[in-house]
Amino acid sequence: MYDGQEQPGRNDECWCGSGRKYKKCHLAFDERLEELANQGFEVPARSLLKTPEDIEGIKRSAAINIGVLDYVAEHIGPGVTTGEIDRWVYDYTTEHGGIPADLDYEGYPKSVCTSVNEVVCHGIPSDDHMLGEGDIVNVDCSTILDGYFSDSSRMFCIGEVSPERRRLVEETKKAMEAGIAAVKPWGFVGDIGAAVHAHAQSCGFTVVREFGGHGIGHEFHEDPFVSHVAEAGTGMVLVPGLVFTIEPMINAGEQPIDMSDPNGWTVRTADGSDTAQWEVQVVVTEDGCELLSW
Ligand code: MF3
Ligand code: CO
Repeated sequence: MYDGQEQPGRNDECWCGSGRKYKKCHLAFDERLEELANQGFEVPARSLLKTPEDIEGIKRSAAINIGVLDYVAEHIGPGVTTGEIDRWVYDYTTEHGGIPADLDYEGYPKSVCTSVNEVVCHGIPSDDHMLGEGDIVNVDCSTILDGYFSDSSRMFCIGEVSPERRRLVEETKKAMEAGIAAVKPWGFVGDIGAAVHAHAQSCGFTVVREFGGHGIGHEFHEDPFVSHVAEAGTGMVLVPGLVFTIEPMINAGEQPIDMSDPNGWTVRTADGSDTAQWEVQVVVTEDGCELLSW
């Protein structure tokens, strides 16, 4: 096979777990991938393609992930500390049988990322950081259940927010939606970044390049890297069964970011301008994609 994996015999069981013969199941699909690989396209290894059973597992994990963010949505507001949000995420996740994927991930000290105003990503929750009227905050939550990962994030506007901040939050969501709409089976990962970037640019905003979406499922971060600034028609082929996140970080001001925080995590806009991010997790399907978490 194109990815060095063994190919089942025509009458053997298919690798996808359907219980059907390979020739009646994924043989033609694998031949299509093989041909694309031979033509020089970047084709995902079969190990990145999720089986129906994997998708069910990811959906069970995602149910907790979505539930956590719904809980946050109901309770967040002025006067809440980001430390409290961290405890909500830990408690909700563990009470539902899951593990917060962020906790201890490469030494990360909390269960969730809370990124306020000029913080691009990886804001660390703290009992000393109280959310105030007019803040915008991204709550980025990741969940493990039975070895399956899910990952999504939302923006929250705290009380009355300035029109400029509200516009940044809304247009960043639209940029993400443009990325989702660009996901077509047998298209390319680069189609997503091209769509996100075009929308952000049309608003006069800039797109963070150092971070992007990522494959996910059996691990937190798998291939491919999903840049939010890319050329259409480039990058990995969007094969049905591929699962990844789309999570643009969009700045109201200039593009450069500042990664010098001594805590080793928190990323800010270099010019101190506001920034926003939304994140969904999708699976490529035969006719587009399905949202798994949001
Ligand atoms: N949730 C982030 C992502 O979207 C990763 C956070 S890693 C952490 O990929 F360690 F900072 F939590
Ligand atoms: Co992510």
